[in-house]
Amino acid sequence: MASVTSLSDSVQQHLASALSATRPEAAGADPLLRRSDRADYQANGILALAKRAKANPRELAAEVVAQITTGGLIEDVEVSGPGFLNITVGDRAITENLAARYTDGERLGVPLKEDAGVTVVDYAQPNVAKEMHVGHLRSAVIGDALRGMLDFTGERTIGRHHIGDWGTQFGMLIQYLFEHPGELAPAEDVDGEQAMSNLNRVYKASRAVFDADEEFKERARKRVVALQSGDKETLELWQQFVDESKVYFYSVFEKLDMEIRDDEIVGESAYNEGMPETARLLEEMGVAVRSEGALVVFFDEIRGKDDQPVPLIVQKADGGFGYAASDLTAIRNRVQDLDATTLLYVVDVRQSLHFRMVFETARRAGWLNDGVTAHNMGYGTVLGADGKPFKTRAGETVRLEDLLDEAVQRAAEVVREKARDLTEDEIQERAAQVGIGAVKYADLSTSPSRDYKFDLDQMVSLNGDTSVYLQYAYARIRSILRKAGEVAPAAHPELELHAAERALGLHLDAFGDTVFEAAAEYAPHKLTAYLYQAASLFTSFYDKCPVLKAETPQQVENRLFLCDVTARTLHRGMALLGIRTPERL
Ligand code: ARG
Repeated sequence: MASVTSLSDSVQQHLASALSATRPEAAGADPLLRRSDRADYQANGILALAKRAKANPRELAAEVVAQITTGGLIEDVEVSGPGFLNITVGDRAITENLAARYTDGERLGVPLKEDAGVTVVDYAQPNVAKEMHVGHLRSAVIGDALRGMLDFTGERTIGRHHIGDWGTQFGMLIQYLFEHPGELAPAEDVDGEQAMSNLNRVYKASRAVFDADEEFKERARKRVVALQSGDKETLELWQQFVDESKVYFYSVFEKLDMEIRDDEIVGESAYNEGMPETARLLEEMGVAVRSEGALVVFFDEIRGKDDQPVPLIVQKADGGFGYAASDLTAIRNRVQDLDATTLLYVVDVRQSLHFRMVFETARRAGWLNDGVTAHNMGYGTVLGADGKPFKTRAGETVRLEDLLDEAVQRAAEVVREKARDLTEDEIQERAAQVGIGAVKYADLSTSPSRDYKFDLDQMVSLNGDTSVYLQYAYARIRSILRKAGEVAPAAHPELELHAAERALGLHLDAFGDTVFEAAAEYAPHKLTAYLYQAASLFTSFYDKCPVLKAETPQQVENRLFLCDVTARTLHRGMALLGIRTPERL
């Protein structure tokens, strides 16, 4: 594995040394380099420097230019405007840079970060005995993509699926199962769909008894107490619900083409034993106080309706622990036992107040300190194509599996229309990759904090910023490489490059920097935008520069090489986001 310094970093270093050679006091100053339409890069940092040195910016810029040796990495540098530098990189430098990336295989020369930490990512957290909906989709898709990007930078990620598997609602379910044994088929005998329909049936039946029968209600309440105190028989019945639900969860995650590890499913129940201690510690430290029998934490800065302070309830007056207690206990575990340096929560923005209070409480208790960052990546709501909250015509929440099935079906139509030499099996296989990719991409390409429209027509469109467009671009490149037959891609740094080749090459060089930026900002949409642009730049390169019919054999090889670097970059980028790139479409 050999990491490659990006062209922009190399140019940046050249400029920085030219700056400090001109003005020793400018050592360490940022030349503020960015990609530009006028040249390859533009540096704007001299303006601020000149201001500080009370110098004329254009003159200072000219002095800096005089320090730069051109002809190698930097082909040309010019002063422009009030004192900008326009920088053109040499063709040879571009090709050599890509050639070095090409030999690095999977990582494309992207270095691993030096100060890597441990990020615990809390994502994909459905609830036991409940149907999954589009909200759970976002958390799963975004969380998985963030892990892919973070891992690629060298960060170590640990997944935590904080599933809702604990709480008072289980009293009713378990009591019903206790009184109607055999209603829930054993988990090993059912598939995902059967599991969910069994759970739904038991849920509805128990709800009906619960609402109609006061005595049942009382027995259900006692069941909660038995559950929390660890009664063996009660726990066994509870486990049946969890197991049945997991069969269902796994079937949905499989449909989503997402790997979920069993040892990372650590739900609310896992923190049951630690919760009394969490409460005791908070009370002893004075972080939480008793109020009307409950144990609560108050915040000056957090107020709700009528300017009333909103407390965080650690323990209810009846002694029960809830959602906040499990999250606080989870923080202790993640920081103290898993050595997390970052806690990332991919949870609906509607829970952001909860997390603000939980984080602040943990900070006061010292469980979160300066060495740990906690962040709730609150994502927006999924809306229907009409821009209204996503519901079925009957006004019900849409089942996630139905939605995924429909996406795959729509993708099959698109694939079938274009497919020439694919068998029906191949069409179905591609349809799953295209359909699920489309759902993931649409989600990821929207800034996570924004709501987004679930619009299948748009998602599986071949035109525009969609995964299908990217998948077709990738498949097209692969087909060009196949057509080349015996002719292998090879870099020829001595060749002059066409403007479209330069633009593509400079963009491919920025892959690593883009992944690092997108990972650091938890912004998968920056990576999708990058990949989309890569595909667009490829398209214009392919329009303007014949590949297999290029003028000389060297040029054919060099263009095939550019094709291959593009394909690898697209493949790697999409893979980080959890999206497949079929070889043929
Ligand atoms: N299960 C919850 C829900 O469906 C999400 C859990 C989020 N994670 C957490 N640590 N609280 O809303």
